[in-house]
Amino acid sequence: MSWKKKDLLDIRSLSVEEIGEVHAAARTFRDVIAREIKKVPALRGKTVVNLFAEPSTRTRISFDLAAKRLSADVVDFEASSSSFRKGETLIDTVRNLEALNAEFIILRHAAAGAAQFIAERLSAHVINAGDGAHEHPTQALLDTFTILQNRGRIAELRVLISGDILFSRVARSNIHALTKLGATVVLCGPATLLPDTFRELGVEISHDFEAELPKADVVYLLRIQHERQRAVYFPSIGEFVALFGLTSERFRLCKPDALIMHPGPINRGVELASELADGRNSVILEQVTNGLAVRMAVLYLLNGGQAPLEH
Ligand code: CP
Repeated sequence: MSWKKKDLLDIRSLSVEEIGEVHAAARTFRDVIAREIKKVPALRGKTVVNLFAEPSTRTRISFDLAAKRLSADVVDFEASSSSFRKGETLIDTVRNLEALNAEFIILRHAAAGAAQFIAERLSAHVINAGDGAHEHPTQALLDTFTILQNRGRIAELRVLISGDILFSRVARSNIHALTKLGATVVLCGPATLLPDTFRELGVEISHDFEAELPKADVVYLLRIQHERQRAVYFPSIGEFVALFGLTSERFRLCKPDALIMHPGPINRGVELASELADGRNSVILEQVTNGLAVRMAVLYLLNGGQAPLEH
């Protein structure tokens, strides 16, 4: 089966089958990137532009590597030295990239809806690499892939997502992905960062971190996103740590095999103790490695590639 989609804009509009096809293709690409010769010719002759108008380490570098591993020509668009600085609009910018034969545009932007806005106006494939507090679909695809690798299933697992939910595109994409795949999702955080309206997405809400830890199969931590907050949402970082930081002492409340996950970047000692980030329950760097295989899978499927049948 191949994807019929032109773009990957969100998880909300993906079917369970489409998510399964990404996971199946990513399993194949995990084998490819473990080989001595890590390249396949799937995107030979295609041009991929990485347009990151917000900072990124993991997503930008893994998309760059993913496109190169598929033999595409890759352009890293430097927003800070581009004509954005002279006031050129986003749509004029991407139309010029398309005039230069860009066939894939990978966009990270501070505005929710930016990827959809350009996708509706271009023939090029558009991949949303994070749009404001809306969605970060490849993050949820790599996170669910990582849970599957470690647990063999997602259905009936209890996934606790804790921290700055209100401003998190990672939380929104993971809520859609995990609930579609049959997990129970529990959101936890200060009431100011976790409005009750999230219940409409089919999740449970809690403000008692310690009460939730013993029940969780996966503890997924989010950093406080100061760059998106325009007001004060809790009294101090110290108070946040006191109530919602995963410390070594609190970790003793967890199941022995609970997975610790984080999309990065980590604020060590705030949402997560440093020794836990590097400890044996942490799969944080595995998430990063899987990000490469998952992004190869997304590029491959959008280009008309066939997902392996085993999914
Ligand atoms: N998880 C994630 O999106 O990290 P970057 O901001 O470094 O890409």
